[in-house]
Amino acid sequence: MIPRLDKDWGEQVAVVTGAGSTRGIGRETALHFGRLGASVVAIDRDPIVGEVAAQIRAEGSKAIAITLDVTKDVEIQRALDQVLNEFGHIDILVNNAGITRPNSILNISRSEWELVLATDLTSSFVFTQEVLPAMMKRKYGRIINLSSISGERGGVQNGCHYSAAKAGVMGLTKHVAREMGGYGITCNAVSPGLIETDFGGFTEGDAGERRALLMKEIPAGRSGSAEEVAATICFLASPAAGYITGEIVDVNGGWHID
Ligand SMILES: NC(=O)c1ccc[n+]([C@@H]2O[C@H](COP(=O)([O-])OP(=O)(O)OC[C@H]3O[C@@H](n4cnc5c(N)ncnc54)[C@H](O)[C@@H]3O)[C@@H](O)[C@H]2O)c1
Repeated sequence: MIPRLDKDWGEQVAVVTGAGSTRGIGRETALHFGRLGASVVAIDRDPIVGEVAAQIRAEGSKAIAITLDVTKDVEIQRALDQVLNEFGHIDILVNNAGITRPNSILNISRSEWELVLATDLTSSFVFTQEVLPAMMKRKYGRIINLSSISGERGGVQNGCHYSAAKAGVMGLTKHVAREMGGYGITCNAVSPGLIETDFGGFTEGDAGERRALLMKEIPAGRSGSAEEVAATICFLASPAAGYITGEIVDVNGGWHID
C-alpha cells in the first residue's frame, strides 16, 4: 500500500537529540517541526533545551524537553518510555547530538576516541534500536541521522575519531534502511558541510585566514545555515519523502560532490 502523503503533522511525534544549542541544527529542527504542527520532544544534555520546548509551546504546538546524556543507555531508555507513555507513539527520530574534538591522530587518546564514537555514532544506534519496535508496530517511521562531510572525505578541522564516527553513521543509516524498509520505516542521513553554528568554534565573526581559504573551496561561496539543514531534515521526515531511504543527503554548497 502506498502511504498517505497528506498525513497531518499534528498527528506526528518528533524526537530530536542535541536540540539545546542556541544556534544549532537540532534547535532549528525542533522549532521547524513545531511550526509544522508536530509534537516535539527536544532532548539535550544542556537544560537550556527547556527553552526550546517552551518556545514551541508558545508558538502553538505540543513540546516537552528531556535533559539527558546520549552516551547513557539507561537515560535513553527511560526517556523514550516517558515519551511513549505521554504521546503513545514516535513517528520521527532525528539523531543530531554530536561533539567534535579537533586533534591530530598522533595525540588522540583512547578515552577521547571512545567519547567521540559514543556520542556521534553509538548514541544513534541506541536511540534507533529503542524506537524501532514502536515504529514497526505502526508500520511507519522516519529516522534521520546527522553525518558530516568529514565522514565522506576525511576531516577538515575535526579529528579522525569524528570522521570515523560520521562514516559509521552512514553505514548504520544504509543498513537500517534495508532492514526496516518493509515496515514503512525510512532511514536517511543528512551530511552538512560548513554550517554556522557553535560547533567547533567556527563563528560568523571569524574572518580569519582559515575561513577565507575554506570559502574559496565552496562553490556556493558561503557557509550554510542551521535553517537550511533543518529544512532538509524536515523534508526527509515528511510523509512526502516515503520513497527515499538509505540516502546520504549532502547540504554543503557543493563543497563535496560525489
Ligand atoms: N555545524 C557544522 O558545520 C556541522 C557540519 C557537519 C555535521 N554537523 C553535525 O550536525 C550535528 C549538530 O551540529 P551543530 O553544529 O548544531 O552542533 P552544536 O554544538 O551547536 O549542537 C550540538 C548539540 O548536541 C548536544 N550534545 C552533545 N553531546 C551530547 C550528549 N552526550 N548528550 C546530549 N546532548 C549532547 C550539545 O549540548 C548541543 O546542544 C552534529 O551531529 C554535528 O556533528 C555539524
